[in-house]
Order: sequence, then structure tokens, then C-alpha cells
Amino acid sequence: MKTSEILGPGRTALVTGASRGIGPLIAQQIAQEGGHVVLTGRSAAELEAVASGLTEAGAHVSFLSADLTEPGAAQALVQAIERQVGRIDLLVNNAGGDPLREFHAMTIEENLRTLQLNLVAPLELIHAVLPGMLSRGRGHIVNVSAMAGRLSFPYTEVYAGAKDGIIGFTRVFRGDYRAHGVSASVLILGAIKGAGQGQRMMDRAGLKGAAYMAPAQSVGRAVVKAVKRDRAELVIMPGPGRLLRAVMDYFPGLGPAMNQAAGTRATMQKIIELRDAEADAPV
Ligand SMILES: NC(=O)c1ccc[n+]([C@@H]2O[C@H](COP(=O)([O-])OP(=O)(O)OC[C@H]3O[C@@H](n4cnc5c(N)ncnc54)[C@H](OP(=O)(O)O)[C@@H]3O)[C@@H](O)[C@H]2O)c1
Repeated sequence: MKTSEILGPGRTALVTGASRGIGPLIAQQIAQEGGHVVLTGRSAAELEAVASGLTEAGAHVSFLSADLTEPGAAQALVQAIERQVGRIDLLVNNAGGDPLREFHAMTIEENLRTLQLNLVAPLELIHAVLPGMLSRGRGHIVNVSAMAGRLSFPYTEVYAGAKDGIIGFTRVFRGDYRAHGVSASVLILGAIKGAGQGQRMMDRAGLKGAAYMAPAQSVGRAVVKAVKRDRAELVIMPGPGRLLRAVMDYFPGLGPAMNQAAGTRATMQKIIELRDAEADAPV
């Protein structure tokens, strides 16, 4: 499959979670390749602001709002885009997030919402775009995952389960559909600075960024690289991220000790306390 068949003039990408955080930066990088980018998220006002900023910078973008935790929303969104634009060549499953609360303090309904947003909604969107991609023999899916599970990142049990789940899904999907022209990549993000949920929480808690955080712009660049080079997995963190991930898999007991030593547990405890004091959980 040639890159020019996925990105560039005449091609359409759908980016979820594009109303704030890392998503607008992903949309910006894809738009720079030419082609049309459709932004989605729940907040129409925020999507409109992002879309007008990108349009002013010369990008070809449009937006459609959708709540991906609502039954049928993913399919309705894809059908609406296919009616308006004709097809989707690239789907970036970026929408996601974690309530940042202790597992025992949440209900199973809250846990299921986290799974729906981070794991089930991406699968629903893939179900919806796949028939068109297969009929054209062309398409690429980029799923945005996280290092949370690998690093035993404190208080992210359900989120880590969803994000590890999408890694396994992507590997198997890629093996099954690449021969039919539809490929898939997964980006495994460490902590991200400059935009996104992690940065927002650190700002609110008055915490400084750390050396292990990667700039938010690097995620957008990684999406383009994953598509252009048809990469299976990219780890987004400073230093030898893939090596760290492999070491963590080999020594799963290392994560908690490392989090304790690096102060991550203490930082997360501070964020959890702040979170518990707020009513507005993100999912
Ligand atoms: N930031 C980090 O440090 C970090 C680290 C590892 C992985 N990640 C992953 O990177 C991705 C982007 O994260 P971020 O930090 O940019 O998060 P963010 O700033 O909180 O943005 C989340 C995006 O998802 C959308 N969204 C949330 N709930 C939704 C729903 N029910 N339906 C549709 N859209 C919904 C939000 O839009 P609306 O509110 O308008 O719906 C927003 O555009 C996520 O998958 C996250 O898990 C981030």
C-alpha cells in the first residue's frame, strides 16, 4: 500500500477527541499533508474554535459533534461523514481519558463508561469505517493507547485495561486486514506535556512538568509517521521508550517500585485528592 493512497489531497481523515488536548495537534499534522480532516468530539463550540483556527492556517477541515459513549453514535457519525464526503481513508481513534479516581471509589457504571470511551467506541468506529475501506482496498486505522498498564501507573486500573486491550486488538487486526489494503498502527503514549489531560491536571495541582514527558506535538508527528511508514507500534516518550516498555513487560514488578521512587505515586495521590474534590469527572 502506498502512503499517497492514505494521506494527501483527495483523502479524508476522521480524528476523534479533536476538540481539545492532543487531538487538535494530530488534526493539524494530518491536514499539513493536504486532504480533508473531519474533527469530532462532544463539544460543538470547542470543535468550531479548533476548526476555524486550522482553517485560518490553510487547512481543509470540518467538524461533526458526537458523544461516543451513546449507543449507535459511532455508526451514525461515520454514515454522516460518508454521505457528506464520500469516504474515510484514515481513522484516528484518539478520544479517551481516565476519571483519575481510585478504583474502589468508583461504581461499575463509571468503569464501564471508561471502557466504552477508550476501547468499545474505537471498535464501533472501526466496524463502521471498515466496509468502505475494504471495498476500496485502502485504509489505515491509528489507535491512541497509553503506557499506563506497562508502567503500573497508579490508580488507572480500568483505563490501563482498555488501553492494553486496544494494543492487542491493533496487532491482530493489522495481521488480518493488511493483505486486504487496510492497515493499523497503535501509538503508546507516555506522559504528554503542553496539552491534554495530564498537563491540565498538573497545572491545576500546581505541579511542574517532568523530564519523562513528551511534547504534545510529537503525537501528531507520530500519527503521520505511523501511516507513512506503515508502522505497527510507536512509543511516544523521551529516550528509549520501546526498550522501557520491553523491560517493563519482562519485569512487571518494576513499575510500582519505579513509580514510588520517581514520585509518580505521590503526584497521582495529590491529583486524586484534587479530582475527588471536583465533581466534573471527564468521562
Ligand atoms: N495527555 C496524556 O498525558 C496522555 C497520556 C497517555 C495517553 N493519552 C491518550 O491520548 C488521547 C488524547 O488524550 P488528551 O490528553 O488529549 O485528552 P483530553 O485533553 O481530555 O481530550 C479528550 C478528547 O476526547 C473527547 N471526548 C471525551 N469524552 C468523549 C465522548 N464521550 N465522546 C466523544 N468524544 C469524547 C474530548 O472532547 P469533548 O469533551 O468535546 O467530548 C476531547 O476532545 C486519549 O486517548 C488519552 O487516553 C494521553
